[in-house]
Amino acid sequence: MEQTLVIIKPDAVNRALVGEVIKRFENKGLQIKAMKMHMLQPYALKDHYAHLKEKGFFEELVKYMSSIPSILMVLKGKEAIKVVRTMVGPTQGRDALPGTIRGDYSVSNQSNVVHASENKKAAKAEIERLFSKEEIFDYRKMNFDWIYSKDEKYIEKGGK
Ligand code: TYD
Repeated sequence: MEQTLVIIKPDAVNRALVGEVIKRFENKGLQIKAMKMHMLQPYALKDHYAHLKEKGFFEELVKYMSSIPSILMVLKGKEAIKVVRTMVGPTQGRDALPGTIRGDYSVSNQSNVVHASENKKAAKAEIERLFSKEEIFDYRKMNFDWIYSKDEKYIEKGGK
């Protein structure tokens, strides 16, 4: 099983889309392992978006992301990183297909509703940066047996 970080961004909080976004991830079958409202700080955002620091929009991006609190979540599931990125859609909301979160709720590249970790390395670093161990919960979801097949659960127990 993989874990991934999702940020429900300031535009989504302002536009009252928080419930809608969380509902989509829950409906898909992803497990919420951690969730909190958090004021992202510029120093943390500079690490989070380090790959964009040379871009002209970087300072504006940091300002926007630290303007009001965001909702932070750790989601768990098989191939959760890919599953969540597919649900989120491409960066530019105007290019994102209907059915994706950005495709349904965004027409912008900055105000694009959600952030989702890009790969395993980023997911690990982002989760460690923004959550303490005590904020992440291990529990077996009641509907787990109805979300994955038997062979997939075998994999969960250490099989190939
Ligand atoms: P990036 O990591 O390239 O995309 P994604 O969020 O899809 O993984 O960019 C991070 C954020 O930077 C993006 O969600 C919004 C912002 N951004 C802009 O504000 N302007 C831009 O032109 C781009 C490409 C991104």
